[in-house]
Amino acid sequence: MPRLRREQWSPPFLNPAILPPFPHAMSQQTIAVLDFGSQYTQVIARRIRECRVHSRIYPFGVDAETLRRDGVRGVILSGGPASVRAKGSPRPDAAVFGLGVPVLGICYGVQLMGEMLGGKVLPSAHREYGHGTLRFRAGSELLRGIRGPLRVWNSHGDKVARLPRGFRAVASTENSEHAVVQDAARRFYGIQFHPEVAHSERGMDILRNFLFRICRCEPDWVMDDYVATAVRQVRGQVGRSHVILGLSGGVDSSVAAALIQKAIGRQLTCVFVDNGLLRLGEREQVERMFRGRFKVDLRVVDASERFLRRLRGVTDPERKRKIIGHEFIRVFDAEVSRIRRKGKVEFLAQGTLYPDIIESVAIDGNPAATIKSHHNVGGLPKRMKLRLLEPLRELFKDEVRALGEALGLPREMVWRHPFPGPGLAVRVCGEITRERLEVLRKADDIFISELRSSGLYDKVWQAFAVFLPVRSVGVMGDERTYDHVCALRAVTSSDAMTADWAHLPHDFLRKVSSRIINEVKGFNRVCYDISSKPPATIEWE
Ligand code: XMP
Repeated sequence: MPRLRREQWSPPFLNPAILPPFPHAMSQQTIAVLDFGSQYTQVIARRIRECRVHSRIYPFGVDAETLRRDGVRGVILSGGPASVRAKGSPRPDAAVFGLGVPVLGICYGVQLMGEMLGGKVLPSAHREYGHGTLRFRAGSELLRGIRGPLRVWNSHGDKVARLPRGFRAVASTENSEHAVVQDAARRFYGIQFHPEVAHSERGMDILRNFLFRICRCEPDWVMDDYVATAVRQVRGQVGRSHVILGLSGGVDSSVAAALIQKAIGRQLTCVFVDNGLLRLGEREQVERMFRGRFKVDLRVVDASERFLRRLRGVTDPERKRKIIGHEFIRVFDAEVSRIRRKGKVEFLAQGTLYPDIIESVAIDGNPAATIKSHHNVGGLPKRMKLRLLEPLRELFKDEVRALGEALGLPREMVWRHPFPGPGLAVRVCGEITRERLEVLRKADDIFISELRSSGLYDKVWQAFAVFLPVRSVGVMGDERTYDHVCALRAVTSSDAMTADWAHLPHDFLRKVSSRIINEVKGFNRVCYDISSKPPATIEWE
């Protein structure tokens, strides 16, 4: 049975696309990134925000009037897989060039400028893919303070063969005479390579020059300041209504809860569902933090009995996921109904992030803007009829973490490893029983505490123990044992799409293994998983 795709995990009531959007927090200075379908579009937007300037991704065809209304300070035309020479290739509104703000074209973006402003784009004699050497030919604000030559990252098949009137080349590579071009008078700039990727030397400095020298932005996108804006917005949107939030203990829902509580206090009720598949002490931790410290009105629903009953005898991972997903909605729904019987509730809050709501562009000769598929997973249960409150929908993950810290959430919570929605159900391979869960919890806790105390926790993307339904023989003292196997998994990754097994020190592994075998009754053998993703996945099920 195929694994569910990531977008299919979300409970089906996540459907921001059909509900009114959270009013977005426009900084005074937004840089618009027009998305022509490059895998790097989000990277560009994040890099700009790393420079503390607000950026926003727009579908490539956005009309210039919208950008004017949004008060953008500059426009970046992203890269993309199409060729500007192909019929029907995606184009921006030509009026973008008449907005009077600086425009930077990157890769496909510079070819668009070439084509649309009167130059000529031709296929390159050599398709440039990979590293090139950038040599500077003339002075430019874009390259100010940077010395060449630079190693830069290319990925293009076309090039601007004849520049539009007013443009000149200021830097070139082996295969591209027009690697950096500009019309300084109109503040139009073009870069043939990808400054946003880490392999491009001084790429961030080039972007910074665009933001601060050319667009004259101020670095004002700071999460400490954003707290006040977000609080104001939540209050404005919610008024005197009541809000419900499903708190999982993960980063996004925790930060959303802390933020909303700061804004509206007891008008917020959080619901935490204990599905019996949590890690050691997790529920208590959430209670201590949110009930104790943040004084949140927190309802903890102990539904473990119910979940485990439904999972009895189930071994197929996808069936486990489906059962857990359905059961969660039923439990959550019932609790929401109970709360609603006591008073009027108008909003359901969710920790939706910016990457979840960016419309992705499908470009295959006939460009069409499509909504990311996970937004189409079902709809909010009709009878719930709640409006959505999504105070994090402007933010990337690293910004959510910074916001969490600004709100006073402890570091361990904000920098937690990801934990899958189905919890330990996908880490007890095969049949799930209370006993197996207990054994796994103890081993997992040893592994994680050792990682923390050795300073290794933050160096890995994710780490956990897995219960293998395999027995092996061992000796303990004079006795023969016949017990289960514990697998340890630790990976490094940047986005969970690919991952490498973490090269943890042998002495560290020795210590964890010996503690697990000595302290956890039920395991007599520990293995370390040395598979990368692909072809393996991070989780075992
Ligand atoms: P895989 O195992 O596909 O996991 O390499 C990639 C990332 O996704 C997490 N994961 C899940 N998260 N529900 C979730 O919310 C799930 O069913 C699920 N399965 C995997 C996994 O922990 C890793 O971070």
